[in-house]
Amino acid sequence: MPLDLGAKGSCHIGGNVSTNAGGIRLLRYGSLHGSVLGVEAVLADGTVIDCLSSLRKDNTGYDLKQLFIGSEGTLGMVTKVSILCPRRPKSVNVAFLGCSSFDDVLATFKDAKGMLEEVLSAYEFLDHECMKINVKYLNMTNPLSDYPFYVLVETSGSNAAHDEEKLNTFLETVMETGHVVDGTVATDISKIKNIWSLRESIAEALMHDGTVYKYDVTLPQDQFYEIVEDMRDRVGDAATRVVGYGHVGDGNLHLNITSPTHSPTLLASIEPFVYEWVAKHSGSISAEHGLGFKKKNYIQYSKSNSAIKLMQDMKKLMDPKGILNPYKTVPSR
Ligand code: LAC
Ligand code: ZN
Repeated sequence: MPLDLGAKGSCHIGGNVSTNAGGIRLLRYGSLHGSVLGVEAVLADGTVIDCLSSLRKDNTGYDLKQLFIGSEGTLGMVTKVSILCPRRPKSVNVAFLGCSSFDDVLATFKDAKGMLEEVLSAYEFLDHECMKINVKYLNMTNPLSDYPFYVLVETSGSNAAHDEEKLNTFLETVMETGHVVDGTVATDISKIKNIWSLRESIAEALMHDGTVYKYDVTLPQDQFYEIVEDMRDRVGDAATRVVGYGHVGDGNLHLNITSPTHSPTLLASIEPFVYEWVAKHSGSISAEHGLGFKKKNYIQYSKSNSAIKLMQDMKKLMDPKGILNPYKTVPSR
């Protein structure tokens, strides 16, 4: 399956396709706009639209299936999908690394791209606050000492000996340059799982703080962590915690802020500040989670007026009564 994500235990494939879920292997296999080859969907008037092809190449007119990928169920309900599945990799290695700064996380990513390129299958990060809540609320163990940042590097390939050799050379390099100060490598399934769970459990751990204000943004990599620091300075003691984690390899940051109970004052200091920050850096205010109900009226921070107008026209044409996932994604005129 070319898609994997923390919610794998509870999500459904129709929802994954409808939301264009990104997940942890987008770096390797690309987005569902590329790996979904066909879709069957039910339109608002009950028409079953058959775009269920399994061809790699098909330029016969408009690529209609794309309308149902990432439109959050507002244009039709996905009932069948055909997905391009890669070979299951024969050898998987995971390294969990400690870094002293976010610049080191980025420098290490550069080296990972250069030295592991064709076997690199994930490059994820979490900050110190994320590790703290994993330990505090979920009784997890940090396999390393305390560092400001942790990186998870995964390789997936076809030859265990080659992949290991590559990974080891990479690790020697990043430790020699000092970009990585500590690390552990896993090749057996249970240790790999443990390391992945440190990254995949963060969304769950955060809920133990109380209310979570979630932001899922795309930003240029060099400004990626700056927004977390700016947000910390801005909200100060009004928040329990401001954390950053996510898919560095895809330029996708999860910025989450928590407080014991819902606070309108805290929310007012976060929004629209966060959207303005992202727009100023030409990023996206929703990288992989979608706009849904809460973010649809902020769409103009990432989309032009002409694009929003066309979206509204399409919604009107395909769902004139507004019965498909009503009030979501498309802002009212
Ligand atoms: C993750 C979810 C929150 O990456 O997108 O853990
Ligand atoms: Zn994510």
